[in-house]
Amino acid sequence: MKFTTKLIHAGFDSDPLTGAVTVPIYQVSTYKQEAIGKHKGYEYSRTGNPTRAALEALIAELEGGARGLGFASGLAALTTILMMFDAGDHLVIGDDVYGGTFRLQDKIFRRFGLEATYVDTSEATRVTAAIQPNTKALLIETPTNPLLKVTDLAAMGQIARQHHLLFIVDNTFMTPYWQRPLEHGADIVWHSATKYLGGHSDVVAGLVVAKDPAVGERLAFLQNAAGGVPGPQDCFLLMRGIKTLAVRMKEHEANAHKLVAWLGARPEVRKVYYPGLPAHPGHEVQRRQAGGFGGMISFDVGSGDLADQILRRVRLFTLAESLGAVESLIEVPARMTHASIPADRRNELGVTDGLIRISVGIEDADDLIADLAHAMG
Ligand SMILES: Cc1ncc(COP(=O)(O)O)c(C=O)c1O
Repeated sequence: MKFTTKLIHAGFDSDPLTGAVTVPIYQVSTYKQEAIGKHKGYEYSRTGNPTRAALEALIAELEGGARGLGFASGLAALTTILMMFDAGDHLVIGDDVYGGTFRLQDKIFRRFGLEATYVDTSEATRVTAAIQPNTKALLIETPTNPLLKVTDLAAMGQIARQHHLLFIVDNTFMTPYWQRPLEHGADIVWHSATKYLGGHSDVVAGLVVAKDPAVGERLAFLQNAAGGVPGPQDCFLLMRGIKTLAVRMKEHEANAHKLVAWLGARPEVRKVYYPGLPAHPGHEVQRRQAGGFGGMISFDVGSGDLADQILRRVRLFTLAESLGAVESLIEVPARMTHASIPADRRNELGVTDGLIRISVGIEDADDLIADLAHAMG
């Protein structure tokens, strides 16, 4: 079955009770047992719920893994993944990962003895150099946020295999429509499904897929034991969103290409960060490992004042954190999503006060360009 067909049909045939063609919202916490332990596969909705089960089967098939698991948010998903490790274990993590990923390890799991070294994973030698005898996993994101740095998944997969590490990838930016890390050596993929998978800014959720059934089983144990699961209504909304993933992702990217071309010709714009640009240092790797370049763009307008003016004047772009929905969003990472990073470190990374990040929606590109032109003018 081709990927676009899977988006519509995977994980669910029709409701066995009624023939309903979409998954009913099983808004239920517990299930009648005919005798002790004799039931129809469901006992209690933290452990399993039919609406969530359809979503979990769907994402497992889309990412090409053995087991899918649903969570109440992307960070609830990562929390559960990190619970696989013990005090004294060490992780190698990308230095440009989502701020909440850093915060979760640095401010919470570190207190329980889970150590980490943060490195630029776009350079394989740095990753190898950071591995210690107690390193258990390599955790990356590609492309990263907000600078869209690309990491070679196959090279990381090879390093992980050589050193017996679990290779974990945050695939939020690309989604399985563009990129399937399990096909390039990853063991676990996770998502903030709040973003492109949901796609409509109306649900907060997380998803995890394990390549190996034993890893999936361990994660399912932790999912039930720790309990960060999504409700059935959110699972339903996610499945509804995922049905249109292919059409949305194509539109996001087509619009992104038009905006990148326009931004590149503007005198106010010092630099455009987009992996689809042939001059982008990760362009070739991205071409090799992904089907597309996505809908996220960052650009530097040289000063915080001009960035402020643009954000004040836009009408169509919404000033907001988050990304990946049908409507276009705009933000200044230095003062919003990445404000927790110290200023000198931000400047070192290139996250300057004049850096603007946009999540390109699926509106008409001409309207988006007119909005930015007015805001810059
Ligand atoms: C790349 C990435 N990963 C993970 C997360 C966390 O997901 P959630 O907000 O659903 O907990 C986010 C949220 O912004 C993100 O952008």
